[in-house]
Amino acid sequence: MHQITIAIDGHSSTGKSTVAKQLADYLGYVYVDTGAMYRAVTLYALQKGFVSENHLDKETLIAALPDIELHFEKNTDGKAEIFLNGTNVEKDIRTLEVSEYVSPIATVSEVRKKLVEQQQKMGDAGGVVMDGRDIGTVVFPEAELKIFMTASAEVRAQRRYEELLGRGEAVTYEEVLENVTERDEIDSNRKDSPLKIAKGAIVMDNSEMNLEDQFHTILQLAKDRIAGRV
Ligand code: DC
Repeated sequence: MHQITIAIDGHSSTGKSTVAKQLADYLGYVYVDTGAMYRAVTLYALQKGFVSENHLDKETLIAALPDIELHFEKNTDGKAEIFLNGTNVEKDIRTLEVSEYVSPIATVSEVRKKLVEQQQKMGDAGGVVMDGRDIGTVVFPEAELKIFMTASAEVRAQRRYEELLGRGEAVTYEEVLENVTERDEIDSNRKDSPLKIAKGAIVMDNSEMNLEDQFHTILQLAKDRIAGRV
């Protein structure tokens, strides 16, 4: 059967990865969480001391990029997890600390170039669901299905807050809301590949939509394209 490329972009904490994973599982496609790649580079920069409060040593990070190897491996549940230089960092990249530094690091063009090239290789055979900020605009501008997901900042912060609490992180709702709005601001206004609605993308505001309705809506859009009805 014809395999399409599905690009899911949108604001942070809109549940992009949840729906992207569901779609990939259902369709038997590969799922690529590109945010995890930017987060892994950020973790590396934190570990090496290239980034700290109010300071990013951009030149040193750029010089170190060839030393960063990222790949995904499936765990026993079939879920793809990210490896940084051979170490599984799936959990370490989801902390609020990494969230606080990832947007400035994702503004660095050299970082984007390296990750975009890798993403294009991972998806060039089709049959892929990729989520991020620039998938429909830069990585796969020809994707057959492009979705742009959004929701109010408060709804998104509440979701992320519950997720972090569930993982045992000691955070406040206010801190998470601040992080969500700050990342929106940086992601949408950076010079290289800002977050914007790709040409032809379908915008979905899921502030008041449940996960199941959202999955079925996007699945139908995908099926129409796989069958060539659109
Ligand atoms: O999807 P996420 O919240 O895990 O992404 C973390 C950050 O990475 C996000 O704030 C911006 C950046 N990012 C990006 O610039 N381009 C992508 N394709 C994916 C993520």
